[in-house]
Amino acid sequence: MHRVSRRHFMQTAAVGSAALAAGPTVVSAREKPVLLGGTPVRTQSWPKWPEWRREWEPKILEILRSGRWWRGRGDHVEEFEKAYAELIGTKRCLATASGTTALLVCMHVLGVDAGDEVIVSPFTFIASYNSILLSKALPVFADTDPETWTINPQDIESRITDRTKAIMPVHIYGLPCDMQPINTIAKTHNLAVIEDACQAWLAEYQGAKCGNLGDLGCFSFQNSKHLPTGEGGAITGNDDSIMDRCHSFHNCGRAYGSSSGERQYFTRGSNRRMQQIQATMLIQQIDKLKKETATRQQNADYLSAQLRNVAGIQPAKVPENATAVWHLFPVRYHSESFSGLPIDKFIQALNSEGIPCGRGYHEQYFDGLIDEAINSRGYKRLFSDQRLKAYRDSLNDLKGNKLVCETTVAFPQTVLLGKKEDMDDIVDAIAKIQKNSDEIKKA
Ligand SMILES: Cc1ncc(COP(=O)(O)O)c(C=O)c1O
Repeated sequence: MHRVSRRHFMQTAAVGSAALAAGPTVVSAREKPVLLGGTPVRTQSWPKWPEWRREWEPKILEILRSGRWWRGRGDHVEEFEKAYAELIGTKRCLATASGTTALLVCMHVLGVDAGDEVIVSPFTFIASYNSILLSKALPVFADTDPETWTINPQDIESRITDRTKAIMPVHIYGLPCDMQPINTIAKTHNLAVIEDACQAWLAEYQGAKCGNLGDLGCFSFQNSKHLPTGEGGAITGNDDSIMDRCHSFHNCGRAYGSSSGERQYFTRGSNRRMQQIQATMLIQQIDKLKKETATRQQNADYLSAQLRNVAGIQPAKVPENATAVWHLFPVRYHSESFSGLPIDKFIQALNSEGIPCGRGYHEQYFDGLIDEAINSRGYKRLFSDQRLKAYRDSLNDLKGNKLVCETTVAFPQTVLLGKKEDMDDIVDAIAKIQKNSDEIKKA
């Protein structure tokens, strides 16, 4: 195990370049990139994810032994819902089986129906697209802002048609969308706003948490997430009657709260319920989430400031009065500042230096799921040929998104759980690759 300190690396690099001017020099193994036969900037491991603590086990065992595993036979899911609503600052929360099911419930309850259109960010996990497609609606993509990675509010209005029913901004990577102009557009055109906050637990925008900025917010607690329980999700909102309808829909359409009438099944529904064990795992991790969020934010601020000094590396711009929570830490990589080194080779070089990172989302709308939908019998009944053709053609207009897909390098959230010196390792590795980019490219 060894660590090359940032200071040491910079010193040796400076000595190396001074010596170069004076004549031939011997480049130390540490200065040499691993891909050229050198030794890595870092051999220490990064924090593992997810983390389990033995102190959480008694409560889980209690539930297992009670046999009261589903939400109908205990109060742990409700207990979590109260705690999570308080955390996000909303009046209500409904726990669900996953983030995808949370989105699907919201689609149904906010009236997204077959043949409607929903404006959504293209740079997102595929579940955002799927929740719209499974509602038999058209996901209409507004372009991505290449500086923020989120939906460009200025590209929304021109995409509204008489079928548009909702906007789904996605706070991707925990980066809050610029919600003020989005909400203004929604109000003007009478559209619902469903926040996909599945990666944005505790992110804030103008004094309110993501998930409390639109009509309804959706969260995921899947294994990789900052608040994980294997699979799980939640809906947050402030309107009792809407939240009661969400409850009904997620529980097979059974009447609930203000939706209770004379007839039990007054509405269609599905089973999207969370289990008691999942809720208990979540409740016990809330304090950890708060502490780790602060650590990630501190490290991300430091890392962003350091990387802004590196030519060709562009960290994310966060809207004013907003705080990101960094489910991933993305940068845009400009290969021209790295002797034209292709992005995949840059990632390979960083990985070999002991720095985990990978590509962002690709242009998923060309993968086949959209074509499959719009060529299906159902969609052909619901939309005119002319609309489907114009829609398909419009996928080529997403220039900002294409750029973001082509240039994103993303670091996992676990690297942000380290110390300041760990952030220096990332900066040092990038500097080392930049200095040797010409040779790495040739290798
Ligand atoms: C942006 C986004 N939306 C939706 C989802 C769906 O959540 P789940 O995987 O819990 O169904 C995820 C999960 O990865 C996500 O990242």
